This record gives sequence, C-alpha cells and structure tokens, in this order.
Amino acid sequence: MGRRIVISGNWKMNKVTDDANELIDGLTAGVADMPADREMVIFPPAIYLKEVTAKASSTRIETGAQNMYFKEEGAFTGENSPKMVKDSGASYILIGHSERRHVFGESDELINSKVKAAYEFDLKPMLCIGELLEEFESGKSKDVCKTQLVEGLKDISKDQMKEMVIAYEPVWAIGTGKVATPEIAQDIHAFCREVIAELYDQATADIVPILYGGSVKADNAAGLLSREDIDGVLVGGACLTADSFLAIAKA
Ligand code: PGA
Repeated sequence: MGRRIVISGNWKMNKVTDDANELIDGLTAGVADMPADREMVIFPPAIYLKEVTAKASSTRIETGAQNMYFKEEGAFTGENSPKMVKDSGASYILIGHSERRHVFGESDELINSKVKAAYEFDLKPMLCIGELLEEFESGKSKDVCKTQLVEGLKDISKDQMKEMVIAYEPVWAIGTGKVATPEIAQDIHAFCREVIAELYDQATADIVPILYGGSVKADNAAGLLSREDIDGVLVGGACLTADSFLAIAKA
C-alpha cells in the first residue's frame, strides 16, 4: 500500500538529564541503519523535549510531546501549550494515550480539542485509541475504537488526515507483557481503517498509518509489522534503552 512505517517510542515519566542524553545519543548513533522506509518518532518528557529535539535534529529521528493542553497560552497552571511544543522544535504530539484517558480522566471531547489544536500549530497528531480489559473480554473492542475515532476526529478534514497517525493500544496490553496477537491487532487495525474510510474515503484510509502499541518488544515486533494494516508500533517499556528500541526499529 506504500504507507509509511512509523516506529515510535513513548518515554512516559522516565529519565532525568543524564539518562535522557544517553538514550538520545545511543539512538542517534544507531538510527542510520534503520530501513529507509521507516520513520522514528520519540516522545520524551516535556521538560527534556527541547534538548532531545536539538540532538535529534540532524538525524532521521523526529520528536514529539506526550501531551499538551489545547489553548495557546494563559492561566492553566502546570500545562504546556501547542505553541510551546512547536517552539521546542518538535513535530509530533501524542494525544489521548490511555494513561491520559484513564489516569487523568481525559474525555473524547477534550482529546478532540487537542487534535484540532495540533493542526492549528502545525503539529502532527498521533491519536491513541484502545479498549479496557473488560471491554475486550465482553467483545466491545471495535465499538470502543469506533467511538474514540469518530469523537477524536470530529471536525478534522480529509486534507488534515494526511498528517494523522493513529495508534491502537489495547489498554490490557500496555505494560502488562500481554501483547495482542498479530491476528487480533490486524483485525482491529483493518476495522479502524474501515471506520476512517466511512468517515472520509478509501484513499484517505489508505494513507493513514495505524500503529500498534502494547508490550511491543524486539521479539514480537516483526510478527506485528508483517501484517497488512499494522504500519508501525508505539513502544513504552522497550524504548527506554537504545539497544532494545533500535532492535525494534530494525525488526
Ligand atoms: P508498553 O507501553 O510498550 O510498555 O506496553 C506502550 C504505551 O503505553 O505506549
């Protein structure tokens, strides 16, 4: 299909200055060997974003923030704005990660405001969706993903979808070691692509990369990436050392 392959790593709330430098230095040293059709995107903690982005700037690595508020500026103590993320030099923004949804109570409506703000500030959104364990067990995975896509993409135009990346992350597979099988993931990814085709058209659905996330490691990445509708991965735990993340990037 010729979609681009995106290998992304979410550092979450890990690393301090020295560790962050060690990790980005390791990645910049090894990323040149990543296959040419792949893109690497990392999401460091906001406080290190500018520094890490500067180090990544002469390489194939792109960077993004893990979260932001949707307003440009103002009295929003503790938040970072899209303007600040852009100013750091980053090009991506992770939106709606399950920890934002379930630990911090973010609604689909708030997430949609952030998606719109990303476009206003010329940031590429990576919109995360995915069901909880009880929803998976009661057969509601597709319903949940459809709702999160429909609500998250509200008012986003077909043209804007060219910059969109979707990450399917079943919550029961995040940080648990329980990776969804390539069959389960492929089935949901194909379904999500159908939803995008219904919302826009098939040509749009065909260009949007849909990544899988949830306990991705070097030894399961190749099986996932070989599936037709799995266009990359969003990695948590295994992106915290350069060796393991580069092994995934080259899998
Ligand atoms: P994990 O996290 O790889 O540690 O399961 C994935 C994520 O939350 O993005």
